[in-house]
Amino acid sequence: MPAGSGIGEAAAVLRAGGLVAFPTETVYGLGANALDARAAARIFEAKARPSFDPLITHLADAADLPALVGAVPPAVAALVARFWPGPLTLIVDRPAVIPPIVTSGLDTMAVRVPDEPSARALIAAAGVPVAAPSANRFGQLSPTRAEHVVTGLGAAVDVVLDGGPTRCGIESTIVDARGERPVVLRLGALPVEALVEAVGPVEVRPGSSGQPVAPGTLAAHYAPRTPLRLGAAADGDGGRRGFLAFRAPPAQGDWAAVEVLSPEGDLTVAAARLFDALHRLDATGVTEIVAEPVPDVGVGRAINDRLRRAAATWR
Ligand code: TXA
Ligand code: MG
Repeated sequence: MPAGSGIGEAAAVLRAGGLVAFPTETVYGLGANALDARAAARIFEAKARPSFDPLITHLADAADLPALVGAVPPAVAALVARFWPGPLTLIVDRPAVIPPIVTSGLDTMAVRVPDEPSARALIAAAGVPVAAPSANRFGQLSPTRAEHVVTGLGAAVDVVLDGGPTRCGIESTIVDARGERPVVLRLGALPVEALVEAVGPVEVRPGSSGQPVAPGTLAAHYAPRTPLRLGAAADGDGGRRGFLAFRAPPAQGDWAAVEVLSPEGDLTVAAARLFDALHRLDATGVTEIVAEPVPDVGVGRAINDRLRRAAATWR
């Protein structure tokens, strides 16, 4: 359904315990009523997601946060005020109304307000917080178009709202700002530099713990079906290979398919196109994808993070 006109019906599906895939500014989410444990369980089932991987709860408005979780630490409140709505997920204490399945038993909860009008309208119309991971099967490429959701999850979803390609193309940055110094648990669409400018020094610790608190930070994740490795055009040869380039097609080598993320060298544009390009390379039937790392600044850090994890799946 079109994201605009389908909202009333999709909200009713959410209230009835169904699953609605919807666009956010980052990637498409697979939403369920976050107050309903059975509805949340359907998310894990549809994604074949391990029960230890907690969901992000989405709100329509920053003003809805205190009503759900009560007072938050000052640094969390400062980040809410500065960056919501937007691609920033914050860690707060899990309120009793949120069933433990949503947070995989953690006493903390990840929460954000997406910067996509149709998503906020959907959540507002549903009248409940919406638990939503990315709308892909566990470990696979994140969806940046409604078609990706339909291909990947198909009949497991009750409604897919189509809002066209997502603006950021890469998931939200996850920050735990409850302690002394904010900790970035997942690099994402909000650059670390923007966080630092707003709240001072932060610690970047994606996937540092053996028992990951943010499994989106598992070493192997975000993977295409085709084996992917990080490299340059000069590396190796043989087979029907695809190349994922940052600015320009490779000057050498024999490539069956080439995707260029941003001829202008714009990292924001590259992030927006990343998963779409990987979905397309995957569909060409190449036997290997070689991906060129991008400059490791701004959202480029999150792009390189996703490429490394995709590559780790195949090592
Ligand atoms: O941009 C996004 O964040 C998208 C859109 C749909 O909002 N959602 C998304 O969800 O990327 P997902 O499930 O693919 O990734 C959620 C990440 C997981 O790595 C999960 O472990 C982490 O959030 N997470 C959830 N609750 C957490 C918590 N209490 N503490 C630490 N990490 C948490
Ligand atoms: Mg995901």
